Amino acid sequence: MYGNDFPGPDQGPTAGLLGEVEAAEAALRDAARRDLQAGRGAAPDPAGADEATLHDYFTSVIAADQKIEPRDWMPDSYRKTLIRQIAQHAHSEIIGMQPEGNWISRAPSLKRKAILLAKVQDEAGHGLYLYAAAETLGISRDELVEMLIEGRQKYSSIFNYPTLSWADVGAIGWLVDGAAIVNQVPLCRCSYGPYARAMIRVCKEESFHQRQGFEILHVLAHGTPAQKAMAQDSVDRWWYPSLAMFGPPDTDSAHTAQSMAWKIKRFSNDELRQRFVDMCVQQADVLGLTLPDPDLRWNDDRQAHDYTQPDYAELMRVIKGEGPCNRDRIAHRRRAHADGAWVRDAAAAYAAKQAERQEERKVAA
Ligand SMILES: [Fe+2]
Ligand SMILES: [Fe+2]
Repeated sequence: MYGNDFPGPDQGPTAGLLGEVEAAEAALRDAARRDLQAGRGAAPDPAGADEATLHDYFTSVIAADQKIEPRDWMPDSYRKTLIRQIAQHAHSEIIGMQPEGNWISRAPSLKRKAILLAKVQDEAGHGLYLYAAAETLGISRDELVEMLIEGRQKYSSIFNYPTLSWADVGAIGWLVDGAAIVNQVPLCRCSYGPYARAMIRVCKEESFHQRQGFEILHVLAHGTPAQKAMAQDSVDRWWYPSLAMFGPPDTDSAHTAQSMAWKIKRFSNDELRQRFVDMCVQQADVLGLTLPDPDLRWNDDRQAHDYTQPDYAELMRVIKGEGPCNRDRIAHRRRAHADGAWVRDAAAAYAAKQAERQEERKVAA
């Protein structure tokens, strides 16, 4: 039975996190209705006010947990940070289609194929929401795609690892989408409105992704000994790269403090990584699989699990382009972009023609 062969939806792997997404959505609606701090007037006019007044107002909006919107004044560094982060996120969604796309034609049944197709299509959709959110900051999608294929902007290091078996599709859903959710749920409360709203939609879909991955692994882990071994091998290979998805440890993280002050980021890399570990331990138990860390154990004092850190030197190598699949991923993306040129040209020609006709109609009327 699909979706019900492990604890019911309320206790499912992402039940708590989904609750947080819903709370963030409610807070967003609330914030839209609430006035800024009492006694504060309307936003200063960017054309007339000096920078200190504008900055003051920007800070008060963030302090009041209101959203910064595209037409609002914002410091250049806030805009640049958001463009970098949202673009990197959008690129990750698009490049992330490749490792799993690799298994669409080899999924073990029609049903598995349909589910995987839907999942990979969702990732394309996430890329589109996010490129659209980045465009509200004054950069075009063309520029962003250019920066990706020229290697001037990054995407998540995790997608530079190969998918060697069908179980990898399960491990990606469970661990990679799982880590993505833990990272992204707090972004539903990000101070930049378009990003926060995109993240609410993305997180709801990601929870389906995590669930489908969990279910694939659950079936394999309860199948033949060979299937269980395949599932275990996948978890062994994906565990540490998934932990590395949260980025370098807080002591080495360049962007954390400022992003937290701007309420773009709400938790540090290490806090989120810890949360992910604690969540996975319980779920691995339900799966009947082992997390490949002999030092993983509950720490009563910290009320959290102690665990082995991923190899951050490896993370840096992969980020710099030396992961197992970096070259393939970018080469594939370049090819797909070139192959799609005629579609973009045709769409642009169609839009121009439509605009021309509308103009003619206006003149005639
Ligand atoms: Fe996604
Ligand atoms: Fe996903």
